[in-house]
Amino acid sequence: MCGIVGYIGRKNTKEILLEGLKELEYRGYDSAGIAVLQNDTFESYKAVGKLVNLEEKTKDFITQDFAVGIGHTRWATHGKPTELNAHPHMGESSYVVHNGIIENYATLKKELMAEGIHFLSQTDTEVIVHLFEKNLRSAKNTLEAFSQTISQLHGAYAILLVTKGEDETIFFAKHGSPMLVGIDAQNDKYFASSDTPLIGHCSDVNYFDDGDYGYISADEIVIFDKMGQKKNPHFTKLTQNKLSAQKNGFRFFMEKEIYEQSDVIIDTLLGRLSDKEIVFDELDASLFEGINEIKLCACGTSYHSALTATYLFERYAKIKTSVEVASEFRYRSPIMSRDTLFVVISQSGETADTLETLKMAKAAGLKTLVICNVDNSSMVRLADACILTRAGVEKGVASTKAFATQVMVFWMLSMYVAKLKNSLDALEIAKQIALMRQVPGSVKVSDAMHERIKRLSKRYLHGHGFFFIGRDIFYPLALEGALKLKEISYLHAEGYPSGEMKHGPIALADPELFTIALLPQHLLYDKAKSNVEELSARDATICTISALEFDKADDFIPINSYEDYMLEFFEMMVALQLLSLEISVRLGNDVDMPRNLAKSVTVE
Ligand code: F6R
Repeated sequence: MCGIVGYIGRKNTKEILLEGLKELEYRGYDSAGIAVLQNDTFESYKAVGKLVNLEEKTKDFITQDFAVGIGHTRWATHGKPTELNAHPHMGESSYVVHNGIIENYATLKKELMAEGIHFLSQTDTEVIVHLFEKNLRSAKNTLEAFSQTISQLHGAYAILLVTKGEDETIFFAKHGSPMLVGIDAQNDKYFASSDTPLIGHCSDVNYFDDGDYGYISADEIVIFDKMGQKKNPHFTKLTQNKLSAQKNGFRFFMEKEIYEQSDVIIDTLLGRLSDKEIVFDELDASLFEGINEIKLCACGTSYHSALTATYLFERYAKIKTSVEVASEFRYRSPIMSRDTLFVVISQSGETADTLETLKMAKAAGLKTLVICNVDNSSMVRLADACILTRAGVEKGVASTKAFATQVMVFWMLSMYVAKLKNSLDALEIAKQIALMRQVPGSVKVSDAMHERIKRLSKRYLHGHGFFFIGRDIFYPLALEGALKLKEISYLHAEGYPSGEMKHGPIALADPELFTIALLPQHLLYDKAKSNVEELSARDATICTISALEFDKADDFIPINSYEDYMLEFFEMMVALQLLSLEISVRLGNDVDMPRNLAKSVTVE
C-alpha cells in the first residue's frame, strides 16, 4: 500500500524523507522516490524495489540548509512497478505524490493529451501534476490553481505537491486517504500518511479531515475545509511509541486488520470492476483455453477461501472445481490432466506445501495460476499467471483481511470465467458486479456489533468445545470461524456442515457445547434453521449470526439485511473474527502472536 512523507525545514531533508519512508515500509510497496526543491531547483530520484535501492541512488545527493521535499512508496495499481510509474510524478516545474485512486483519470488524461501534454507514466497520479500546471497558466495564483485541480478530481486521495516559484511551500489535499502534518521544536513541518514517520520528530500533529486542502510553508499553515472555508489546525499530542502508532490506536494488529477490511477490499476491486464485466489486466484470456476443470490447492485459511471458490465456480462459472489441502495433495500421487487449471492460494506465497504442489503441477505440464498477497514471492515468480489480492501487509498471525480479499478475488474470478464461458447472461453478471461494490460497506465494523460481541464473549470462555456450523459457502466460513477461535483462544472448535451434525457430532450436544450457527437469510435458511433446531432440542447452547432473529437461540449476533447471501457472508465473516478476538482478549492470550504459530510456514 502506498505511503507519503513530506518535509519543510533546515535539517537533512533527504535523510528525513528516507527515514520516513522506512517507517512506512511495513505497509508493502514495490518502488519509491523523492523530490527535493531547494533554491528553486528540483532534484528527484526514484528506484524500483526496496528502499536500499533508493538509498544507493541518492548516496551522493546532499541536502543542507532550507529545503522542501516529498517522498512516496508506491504499491502498484495503475501500471506496473517501474521507475517511470514510481512517484513523485513531474510536470514542467512541479512534482506530486499521491495515495488513493483518481477515478476520472482516464477522461482527464484524454483531455490533457488532446491539448498536447505528454505523459510519461501509466499512473492515474500523473494527471494531477499536468492538470495543476494547466490551471496555473490561467489562475490568479498557485493556491487557486491547486484548489481548481482538486475540485476536478473524483475518487480518493492524499496529495502533496511542490512547485517552482513557491520554494518554501508544500500544497496538500486529503479526501478519503489518510494524511497528517506535525511540527517540531524548530517549527519545521513534517507530512505523512500515517503517524509513524513523525514519531521522534514531532510531539504535536494535525490530522487532516476529508476535504481539507491548502498549503504549508516555513511560517504559515493554511487549511481550507471541503466548503472552501479557512479553518484552524487542530494539533493533538502524538504518541511516542512506534509499535502502538503502527496499530493506529487499535489494541492489536489483528483488530486493526479486521477494521481495515473495508479499505483493502476497495483496493482489491480497484480497476477490476466495470459495469458489465470483471477486468483482470494481469490475466490473458488464453489461460482458460482448453480448460475443463479447476483444481485448487492451499493450506489453512487459504484453503478455506479456496473451498468457497468451489461453490462460486461451479454455481456461476459452471466449471468443475475441486480443492485439496496442499500437504495431502503432495503425497497421494494425484492424477493431473492438462485440461485442468491448477490454482494455488497463499497469503505469503511462500508456504512450503503449497509451493510444492505448484511445482508438481508445473512439472506435469498444467497451466498454473496463483492468488497471492505478496508480489515477487516464490509462488508469484513460479506460476504462469498471478492475481494479487492487495490486502497490504498482514501482521496478525491469525489471518483476517487476507482471507477477505481472497474470497473477493474468487468471486470476481467466477464472474470473469462465467463471461468467458458464457455461463451467465450479461444481466446476471452486471447484478453480481453491483453486489460486489457493496462489499466494502458490508465489512465495515459497526460500534454496535463490536460492543455486542465484546459483551457476549464473556459467556464463551469455558465449555467442552465449539461447533461452527453453516451450509453451502457458509460451511467454509464456519471452518474459518473455528480456525480463528482455535488459533487465538486455544479452545477446541470445529467447523462442520450444518446438515452433517446429526450424523455423529450431535451426540456431543449438551449445555456446555457451544454452537455458533450461520443462518443466512438468502441461502438455504429454512434447512439450516432445522439443523439448529435439532441441536437446540438437545440443549446445546446456541448463538446464531443472522439478519433474522431465531427464538430457539440463546444468543444472537444480528447482521444487516441484504439482498444477497454474499453480502451476508462478508458481514458474518467480520462477526466471527471479532468473536475470536474478544474471547482471546478475555482469556489474556497474545492475540497477534499466538503460541506455536508462525506467520509464514516455509517448512513442510
Ligand atoms: C490462519 C493462517 C494460516 C495460513 C496458512 C497458509 O490464520 O493464517 O492457516 O492461512 O499457514 O498460509 P499462506 O496463505 O501464506 O499460504
